[in-house]
Amino acid sequence: MATGMQCIGVLTGGGDCPGLNAVIRAVAKSAIGNYHLDIVGIEDGFLGLIENRMRPLHWNDVSSILTRGGTILGTSNKSDPQHFGVRNLAGELEYRDMTQTVLDNIRQAGLDALICIGGDGTMTAAANLIKHGVNCIGVPKTIDNDIVGCDITFGFDTAVTTAAEALDKIHSTAASHHRAMLVEVMGRNAGWLALHAGVATGADIILIPEIPYSVAKICDAVLARRRKGRKFSIICVSEGAKEIGGSVTIQRRVEGSPEPIRLGGVSLKLSQQIEDATGIETRATVLGHVQRGGTPTPFDRVLATQYGHHAVELLMNGDTGKIVVMQGGVITDEPITSVANKQRLVPVDHPLMLAARAVGTMGLLPWDIDIGLDDKPASVVASATI
Ligand code: F6P
Repeated sequence: MATGMQCIGVLTGGGDCPGLNAVIRAVAKSAIGNYHLDIVGIEDGFLGLIENRMRPLHWNDVSSILTRGGTILGTSNKSDPQHFGVRNLAGELEYRDMTQTVLDNIRQAGLDALICIGGDGTMTAAANLIKHGVNCIGVPKTIDNDIVGCDITFGFDTAVTTAAEALDKIHSTAASHHRAMLVEVMGRNAGWLALHAGVATGADIILIPEIPYSVAKICDAVLARRRKGRKFSIICVSEGAKEIGGSVTIQRRVEGSPEPIRLGGVSLKLSQQIEDATGIETRATVLGHVQRGGTPTPFDRVLATQYGHHAVELLMNGDTGKIVVMQGGVITDEPITSVANKQRLVPVDHPLMLAARAVGTMGLLPWDIDIGLDDKPASVVASATI
């Protein structure tokens, strides 16, 4: 067991997500209860390290937060210390490397280690601090579930539950009005959220970023359902879905964010295209940030508690530079550097994709086998007949 660990800092970076408070609580309670460590909460992610905003976290500060959404520490997605955007006198955004300021603030606060709860952006920033000798442990957060080497991030289950509730509700309107209804979910460039929410609710068509779609084939599918007497169609669309040969739909660019592009709105465009081509009344609902809010599901609370506890155990075993992950139902860890700057996308032959196709879900085959998917598995090529 490592000696000399007396004070650890904890921060939440990137977009918020249900379960952040459950991790903060697990980190603080395990560290205080088992090891009598001092805990410092860093405000607003790496911004708090740049601006030296931190506060002690005592046992009572983290009581009663297990079920609360958001993060009691605050977060920021515009505070990568290596590329920190500041306005110059002319009002233009300039990027500065604030790594030294962060290192000075860590030393001054007496932090022996940092627990960084976040997604790939946070892990990339943590990887930079590791290079400068800071003891860091990562905890994977994101409703997108796109952290490499991790089967499931906390927050994902809650987001799937929220999206599934919305899809279930849309179902009754679609059926009553004989409409095609699109529900757009988040997930960035990964289709996990759309795939899970769509399968959970029996969506007729699921569109994910990994498989570009054909508007004509979607319309054919909607019309074919109608011919068979199914007068409505539910289409679960990932915000990162795009047409074959097309590009993603950008909702806005966030200046100063390490990843400035925000996706959104593909379903609005697609619903108009479907209505124009089929004559069937078609509506789209963009779920947006409701998917990131609310109380975490019991699954996410349990996962977050295990992740937070494991993070402290790693630190106390002197095993730093790691991110806690779930692999095959086991909580384990990987080097942060092996996950930073990467995304885990849905493989076209993932078992859930096969199950979804088997129950008749459309959209989950390459719509056109010449779209340039590399490493097409034999099962996909053989059955790509839609
Ligand atoms: O990464 C989580 C996520 O909610 C994505 O699914 C979504 O694309 C993005 O963040 C939205 O970011 P913002 O809150 O900055 O609009």
